[in-house]
Amino acid sequence: MFDKNKKLIFSGIQPSGTFTLGNYLGAVINWNKLQDDYNCVYCVVDMHAITVKQEPAKLRQNTLEAYALLLACGIDINRSVLFIQSHVKTHAELSWVLSCSTQYGELGRMTQFKDKSLKHADDINAGLYTYPVLMAADILVYNADLVPVGIDQKQHLELARNVAQRFNGRYGETFIVPEPYIGEVGSKVMSLQNPESKMSKSDDNVNAYVLVIDDKDTIIRKFKRAVTDSDTEIVYKEGKDGINNLMTIYSAVTGDSFDKITADFSGKGYGDFKLAVGEAVADKLSPIREEYLKIIADKDYLKKCYTEGAEQALRLSQRVVNKVYRKVGFVDKV
Ligand code: TYM
Repeated sequence: MFDKNKKLIFSGIQPSGTFTLGNYLGAVINWNKLQDDYNCVYCVVDMHAITVKQEPAKLRQNTLEAYALLLACGIDINRSVLFIQSHVKTHAELSWVLSCSTQYGELGRMTQFKDKSLKHADDINAGLYTYPVLMAADILVYNADLVPVGIDQKQHLELARNVAQRFNGRYGETFIVPEPYIGEVGSKVMSLQNPESKMSKSDDNVNAYVLVIDDKDTIIRKFKRAVTDSDTEIVYKEGKDGINNLMTIYSAVTGDSFDKITADFSGKGYGDFKLAVGEAVADKLSPIREEYLKIIADKDYLKKCYTEGAEQALRLSQRVVNKVYRKVGFVDKV
Protein backbone atom coordinates (compact mmCIF):
# COMPACT_ATOMS: atom_id res chain seq x y z
CA MET A 1 0.00 0.00 0.00
CA PHE A 2 2.87 2.36 0.80
CA ASP A 3 5.21 3.91 -1.74
CA LYS A 4 8.85 3.27 -0.70
CA ASN A 5 9.93 6.63 -2.13
CA LYS A 6 7.61 8.63 0.08
CA LYS A 7 8.34 9.80 3.61
CA LEU A 8 6.26 8.55 6.51
CA ILE A 9 3.92 10.61 8.66
CA PHE A 10 2.58 9.55 12.05
CA SER A 11 0.12 11.31 14.29
CA GLY A 12 -2.43 10.51 16.97
CA ILE A 13 -5.45 11.98 18.70
CA GLN A 14 -6.98 11.23 22.09
CA PRO A 15 -10.49 9.81 22.14
CA SER A 16 -12.32 12.49 24.03
CA GLY A 17 -15.25 11.54 21.78
CA THR A 18 -15.85 13.68 18.74
CA PHE A 19 -13.20 16.36 18.73
CA THR A 20 -13.04 20.16 18.61
CA LEU A 21 -12.45 22.76 15.94
CA GLY A 22 -9.01 23.18 17.60
CA ASN A 23 -8.10 19.54 16.95
CA TYR A 24 -9.42 19.85 13.42
CA LEU A 25 -7.64 23.06 12.41
CA GLY A 26 -4.48 22.33 14.42
CA ALA A 27 -3.99 18.77 13.28
CA VAL A 28 -6.60 16.75 11.41
CA ILE A 29 -6.99 19.16 8.48
CA ASN A 30 -3.25 18.70 7.85
CA TRP A 31 -3.47 14.92 8.31
CA ASN A 32 -5.97 14.97 5.48
CA LYS A 33 -3.88 17.13 3.13
CA LEU A 34 -0.65 15.22 3.75
CA GLN A 35 -2.16 11.97 2.48
CA ASP A 36 -1.42 13.09 -1.08
CA ASP A 37 2.33 13.27 -0.65
CA TYR A 38 3.23 10.97 2.23
CA ASN A 39 2.68 7.49 3.57
CA CYS A 40 0.42 8.27 6.53
CA VAL A 41 -0.21 6.35 9.74
CA TYR A 42 -2.87 7.78 12.06
CA CYS A 43 -4.14 6.51 15.35
CA VAL A 44 -6.77 7.03 18.05
CA VAL A 45 -4.67 6.89 21.21
CA ASP A 46 -6.93 5.17 23.74
CA MET A 47 -3.94 4.00 25.80
CA HIS A 48 -2.96 7.62 26.40
CA ALA A 49 -6.52 8.40 27.48
CA ILE A 50 -6.38 6.15 30.57
CA THR A 51 -3.68 8.34 32.15
CA VAL A 52 -6.69 10.23 33.50
CA LYS A 53 -9.78 8.55 34.98
CA GLN A 54 -12.14 7.17 32.36
CA GLU A 55 -15.44 5.42 32.54
CA PRO A 56 -14.80 2.19 30.56
CA ALA A 57 -18.07 2.16 28.56
CA LYS A 58 -17.66 5.83 27.73
CA LEU A 59 -14.04 5.38 26.64
CA ARG A 60 -15.09 2.56 24.30
CA GLN A 61 -17.80 4.74 22.78
CA ASN A 62 -15.51 7.79 22.55
CA THR A 63 -12.84 5.77 20.78
CA LEU A 64 -15.28 4.57 18.12
CA GLU A 65 -16.64 8.10 17.70
CA ALA A 66 -13.17 9.59 17.28
CA TYR A 67 -12.30 6.89 14.74
CA ALA A 68 -15.52 7.49 12.79
CA LEU A 69 -14.94 11.23 12.82
CA LEU A 70 -11.44 10.82 11.40
CA LEU A 71 -12.95 8.83 8.53
CA ALA A 72 -15.55 11.58 8.07
CA CYS A 73 -12.78 14.21 8.03
CA GLY A 74 -11.32 12.50 4.98
CA ILE A 75 -8.75 10.06 6.32
CA ASP A 76 -8.85 7.50 3.54
CA ILE A 77 -8.13 3.90 4.52
CA ASN A 78 -7.18 3.05 0.95
CA ARG A 79 -4.25 5.44 1.18
CA SER A 80 -3.49 5.68 4.90
CA VAL A 81 -3.30 3.37 7.88
CA LEU A 82 -5.90 4.31 10.51
CA PHE A 83 -6.18 2.26 13.70
CA ILE A 84 -6.82 2.16 17.44
CA GLN A 85 -3.66 2.25 19.55
CA SER A 86 -4.53 -0.57 21.99
CA HIS A 87 -5.01 -2.95 19.03
CA VAL A 88 -1.32 -2.80 18.16
CA LYS A 89 0.90 -4.25 20.87
CA THR A 90 4.18 -2.91 19.50
CA HIS A 91 3.51 0.58 20.90
CA ALA A 92 3.58 -0.66 24.50
CA GLU A 93 6.54 -2.96 23.78
CA LEU A 94 8.67 -0.17 22.38
CA SER A 95 7.52 2.20 25.09
CA TRP A 96 9.09 0.03 27.78
CA VAL A 97 12.43 -0.12 25.99
CA LEU A 98 12.40 3.63 25.35
CA SER A 99 11.56 4.37 28.98
CA CYS A 100 15.03 2.98 29.77
CA SER A 101 16.50 5.65 27.46
CA THR A 102 14.44 8.48 28.98
CA GLN A 103 15.56 10.46 31.99
CA TYR A 104 13.32 10.97 35.01
CA GLY A 105 14.20 14.67 35.04
CA GLU A 106 13.23 15.35 31.44
CA LEU A 107 9.77 13.88 31.99
CA GLY A 108 9.28 16.12 35.02
CA ARG A 109 9.86 19.20 32.85
CA MET A 110 6.89 18.47 30.57
CA THR A 111 4.36 21.29 30.95
CA GLN A 112 1.46 18.98 30.14
CA PHE A 113 2.45 16.74 33.06
CA LYS A 114 2.59 19.75 35.37
CA ASP A 115 -0.80 21.03 34.15
CA LYS A 116 -2.48 17.65 34.37
CA SER A 117 -0.99 16.95 37.82
CA LEU A 118 -2.64 20.13 39.07
CA LYS A 119 -5.92 19.27 37.40
CA HIS A 120 -5.98 15.64 38.57
CA ALA A 121 -4.24 16.07 41.93
CA ASP A 122 -5.96 12.99 43.37
CA ASP A 123 -4.48 10.66 40.73
CA ILE A 124 -0.96 11.60 39.68
CA ASN A 125 -0.22 8.11 38.36
CA ALA A 126 2.99 6.85 36.76
CA GLY A 127 1.30 6.67 33.36
CA LEU A 128 0.64 10.39 33.45
CA TYR A 129 4.34 10.89 34.07
CA THR A 130 5.58 8.48 31.38
CA TYR A 131 2.93 9.53 28.84
CA PRO A 132 5.54 11.20 26.56
CA VAL A 133 7.51 7.94 26.35
CA LEU A 134 4.48 6.14 24.94
CA MET A 135 4.02 9.04 22.55
CA ALA A 136 7.67 8.72 21.47
CA ALA A 137 7.08 5.00 20.93
CA ASP A 138 3.99 5.71 18.80
CA ILE A 139 6.13 7.78 16.46
CA LEU A 140 9.42 5.87 16.50
CA VAL A 141 7.84 2.43 16.07
CA TYR A 142 7.01 3.47 12.48
CA ASN A 143 10.27 5.34 11.97
CA ALA A 144 8.18 8.38 11.08
CA ASP A 145 9.87 11.31 9.36
CA LEU A 146 7.23 13.91 10.12
CA VAL A 147 4.61 14.44 12.84
CA PRO A 148 1.74 16.86 12.17
CA VAL A 149 0.58 18.37 15.47
CA GLY A 150 -0.65 21.59 17.05
CA ILE A 151 1.80 23.78 18.98
CA ASP A 152 0.83 22.29 22.35
CA GLN A 153 2.50 18.97 21.40
CA LYS A 154 5.83 20.50 20.38
CA GLN A 155 7.52 19.85 23.71
CA HIS A 156 6.53 16.17 23.64
CA LEU A 157 7.89 15.89 20.14
CA GLU A 158 11.17 17.46 21.21
CA LEU A 159 11.39 14.76 23.89
CA ALA A 160 10.74 12.03 21.29
CA ARG A 161 13.61 13.46 19.24
CA ASN A 162 15.93 13.43 22.26
CA VAL A 163 15.01 9.84 23.11
CA ALA A 164 15.62 8.73 19.50
CA GLN A 165 19.01 10.44 19.46
CA ARG A 166 19.99 8.97 22.82
CA PHE A 167 18.98 5.46 21.74
CA ASN A 168 20.84 5.83 18.44
CA GLY A 169 23.92 7.06 20.32
CA ARG A 170 23.85 4.10 22.66
CA TYR A 171 22.92 1.24 20.32
CA GLY A 172 23.77 2.53 16.83
CA GLU A 173 21.55 4.13 14.14
CA THR A 174 18.05 2.71 14.64
CA PHE A 175 15.49 5.50 14.58
CA ILE A 176 14.80 8.36 12.25
CA VAL A 177 14.74 11.54 14.34
CA PRO A 178 11.24 12.89 13.55
CA GLU A 179 10.44 16.50 12.65
CA PRO A 180 7.31 18.32 13.78
CA TYR A 181 4.91 19.58 11.12
CA ILE A 182 3.05 22.58 12.48
CA GLY A 183 0.64 24.37 10.14
CA GLU A 184 0.99 28.12 9.62
CA VAL A 185 -2.58 29.01 10.58
CA GLY A 186 -4.61 27.27 13.25
CA SER A 187 -1.84 25.51 15.15
CA LYS A 188 -3.22 27.03 18.35
CA VAL A 189 -6.95 27.70 18.35
CA MET A 190 -8.00 29.49 21.53
CA SER A 191 -11.09 29.19 23.70
CA LEU A 192 -14.04 31.30 22.53
CA GLN A 193 -14.76 32.32 26.12
CA ASN A 194 -11.22 32.89 27.36
CA PRO A 195 -9.00 33.59 24.35
CA GLU A 196 -5.86 33.40 26.48
CA SER A 197 -6.27 29.66 26.92
CA LYS A 198 -6.34 26.82 24.39
CA MET A 199 -9.66 25.58 23.01
CA SER A 200 -10.24 22.28 24.77
CA LYS A 201 -13.16 19.92 25.10
CA SER A 202 -12.43 19.48 28.79
CA ASP A 203 -13.43 23.12 29.36
CA ASP A 204 -16.38 23.35 31.80
CA ASN A 205 -18.05 25.98 29.63
CA VAL A 206 -19.52 24.39 26.46
CA ASN A 207 -19.50 27.81 24.76
CA ALA A 208 -15.70 27.83 24.95
CA TYR A 209 -15.33 25.20 22.22
CA VAL A 210 -16.91 24.18 18.95
CA LEU A 211 -17.22 20.48 18.19
CA VAL A 212 -16.70 19.34 14.62
CA ILE A 213 -20.14 17.74 14.77
CA ASP A 214 -22.00 20.69 16.30
CA ASP A 215 -24.96 21.70 14.12
CA LYS A 216 -25.11 25.03 12.30
CA ASP A 217 -27.26 26.84 14.87
CA THR A 218 -25.05 25.75 17.74
CA ILE A 219 -21.89 26.83 15.91
CA ILE A 220 -23.31 30.25 15.07
CA ARG A 221 -24.60 30.74 18.61
CA LYS A 222 -21.18 29.90 20.09
CA PHE A 223 -19.41 32.35 17.77
CA LYS A 224 -21.95 35.09 18.49
CA ARG A 225 -21.13 34.70 22.19
CA ALA A 226 -17.35 34.71 21.63
CA VAL A 227 -15.51 37.01 24.01
CA THR A 228 -13.79 39.96 22.30
CA ASP A 229 -12.48 43.38 23.38
CA SER A 230 -14.13 46.79 23.50
CA ASP A 231 -12.47 47.99 20.28
CA THR A 232 -14.39 47.87 16.97
CA GLU A 233 -11.80 47.34 14.23
CA ILE A 234 -11.29 43.87 12.74
CA VAL A 235 -7.53 43.80 12.64
CA TYR A 236 -4.89 41.33 13.89
CA LYS A 237 -3.00 43.12 16.63
CA GLU A 238 -1.27 42.36 19.90
CA GLY A 239 -3.64 42.53 22.84
CA LYS A 240 -6.72 41.66 20.78
CA ASP A 241 -6.67 37.95 21.63
CA GLY A 242 -10.37 37.35 20.97
CA ILE A 243 -10.37 38.99 17.52
CA ASN A 244 -6.99 37.45 16.67
CA ASN A 245 -8.44 34.04 17.42
CA LEU A 246 -11.57 34.65 15.32
CA MET A 247 -9.43 35.95 12.44
CA THR A 248 -7.20 32.88 12.70
CA ILE A 249 -10.21 30.57 12.56
CA TYR A 250 -11.74 32.48 9.64
CA SER A 251 -8.44 32.47 7.77
CA ALA A 252 -7.89 28.73 8.37
CA VAL A 253 -11.38 27.92 7.11
CA THR A 254 -11.60 30.27 4.11
CA GLY A 255 -7.91 30.61 3.14
CA ASP A 256 -8.20 34.45 3.28
CA SER A 257 -5.20 36.42 4.56
CA PHE A 258 -5.51 38.70 7.60
CA ASP A 259 -5.13 41.76 5.33
CA LYS A 260 -7.98 40.61 3.11
CA ILE A 261 -10.19 39.94 6.14
CA THR A 262 -9.49 43.43 7.53
CA ALA A 263 -10.27 44.99 4.14
CA ASP A 264 -13.44 42.94 3.61
CA PHE A 265 -14.82 43.80 7.05
CA SER A 266 -13.81 47.44 7.09
CA GLY A 267 -16.66 49.55 8.43
CA LYS A 268 -18.45 46.50 9.81
CA GLY A 269 -18.72 45.69 13.50
CA TYR A 270 -17.65 42.72 15.63
CA GLY A 271 -21.22 41.37 15.48
CA ASP A 272 -21.10 41.03 11.68
CA PHE A 273 -17.69 39.43 11.82
CA LYS A 274 -18.67 36.89 14.50
CA LEU A 275 -21.66 35.87 12.41
CA ALA A 276 -19.47 35.52 9.30
CA VAL A 277 -16.97 33.34 11.17
CA GLY A 278 -19.79 31.17 12.52
CA GLU A 279 -21.27 30.72 9.05
CA ALA A 280 -17.92 29.95 7.42
CA VAL A 281 -17.11 27.36 10.09
CA ALA A 282 -20.59 25.80 9.88
CA ASP A 283 -20.33 25.54 6.07
CA LYS A 284 -16.93 23.87 6.35
CA LEU A 285 -18.05 21.40 9.02
CA SER A 286 -21.54 20.47 7.88
CA PRO A 287 -20.47 17.88 5.22
CA ILE A 288 -18.19 16.27 7.84
CA ARG A 289 -21.07 16.10 10.30
CA GLU A 290 -23.32 14.42 7.72
CA GLU A 291 -20.67 11.88 6.81
CA TYR A 292 -19.95 11.20 10.48
CA LEU A 293 -23.58 10.43 11.25
CA LYS A 294 -23.63 7.86 8.43
CA ILE A 295 -20.39 6.19 9.47
CA ILE A 296 -21.10 5.99 13.20
CA ALA A 297 -24.36 4.19 12.43
CA ASP A 298 -22.54 1.50 10.42
CA LYS A 299 -20.77 -0.54 13.09
CA ASP A 300 -19.76 -3.33 10.69
CA TYR A 301 -18.01 -0.91 8.38
CA LEU A 302 -16.24 0.73 11.31
CA LYS A 303 -15.08 -2.64 12.59
CA LYS A 304 -13.77 -3.65 9.19
CA CYS A 305 -11.80 -0.39 8.93
CA TYR A 306 -10.16 -0.50 12.34
CA THR A 307 -9.42 -4.22 12.12
CA GLU A 308 -7.62 -3.83 8.80
CA GLY A 309 -5.86 -0.70 10.05
CA ALA A 310 -4.50 -2.58 13.09
CA GLU A 311 -3.21 -5.44 10.92
CA GLN A 312 -1.38 -3.02 8.65
CA ALA A 313 0.03 -1.07 11.60
CA LEU A 314 1.28 -4.23 13.28
CA ARG A 315 3.03 -5.37 10.10
CA LEU A 316 4.80 -2.04 9.75
CA SER A 317 5.83 -1.67 13.38
CA GLN A 318 6.79 -5.25 14.21
CA ARG A 319 9.93 -4.93 12.08
CA VAL A 320 11.12 -1.98 14.11
CA VAL A 321 10.45 -3.69 17.45
CA ASN A 322 12.32 -6.80 16.26
CA LYS A 323 15.29 -4.65 15.33
CA VAL A 324 15.21 -2.77 18.64
CA TYR A 325 14.98 -5.98 20.67
CA ARG A 326 18.03 -7.31 18.85
CA LYS A 327 19.97 -4.08 19.36
CA VAL A 328 19.39 -3.99 23.12
CA GLY A 329 20.44 -7.62 23.48
CA PHE A 330 17.22 -9.61 23.87
CA VAL A 331 17.52 -13.24 22.74
CA ASP A 332 15.82 -13.95 19.37
CA LYS A 333 12.51 -15.79 19.61
CA VAL A 334 12.58 -18.87 17.39
P1 TYM B 1 -4.69 15.68 21.57
O1 TYM B 1 -5.59 14.52 21.50
O2 TYM B 1 -4.77 16.58 22.78
O3 TYM B 1 -4.88 16.59 20.29
C1 TYM B 1 -4.83 16.05 18.98
C2 TYM B 1 -4.18 17.05 18.06
O4 TYM B 1 -4.90 18.29 18.07
C3 TYM B 1 -4.01 19.37 18.38
N1 TYM B 1 -4.77 20.37 19.17
C4 TYM B 1 -4.89 21.65 18.83
N2 TYM B 1 -4.40 22.36 17.79
C5 TYM B 1 -4.74 23.68 17.72
N3 TYM B 1 -5.51 24.30 18.64
C6 TYM B 1 -6.02 23.63 19.70
N4 TYM B 1 -6.79 24.26 20.58
C7 TYM B 1 -5.72 22.25 19.84
N5 TYM B 1 -6.04 21.28 20.74
C8 TYM B 1 -5.45 20.15 20.31
C9 TYM B 1 -2.88 18.75 19.18
O5 TYM B 1 -1.72 19.52 19.11
C10 TYM B 1 -2.73 17.40 18.49
O6 TYM B 1 -1.91 17.51 17.36
N6 TYM B 1 -0.40 13.56 22.98
C11 TYM B 1 -1.27 13.83 21.86
C12 TYM B 1 -1.73 12.58 21.12
C13 TYM B 1 -0.63 11.69 20.66
C14 TYM B 1 0.23 11.94 19.58
C15 TYM B 1 1.09 10.80 19.50
C16 TYM B 1 0.35 12.99 18.66
C17 TYM B 1 -0.29 10.50 21.21
N7 TYM B 1 0.75 9.95 20.51
C18 TYM B 1 2.08 10.73 18.55
C19 TYM B 1 1.35 12.89 17.70
C20 TYM B 1 2.20 11.77 17.66
C21 TYM B 1 -2.50 14.55 22.36
O7 TYM B 1 -2.87 14.45 23.49
O8 TYM B 1 -3.17 15.22 21.38
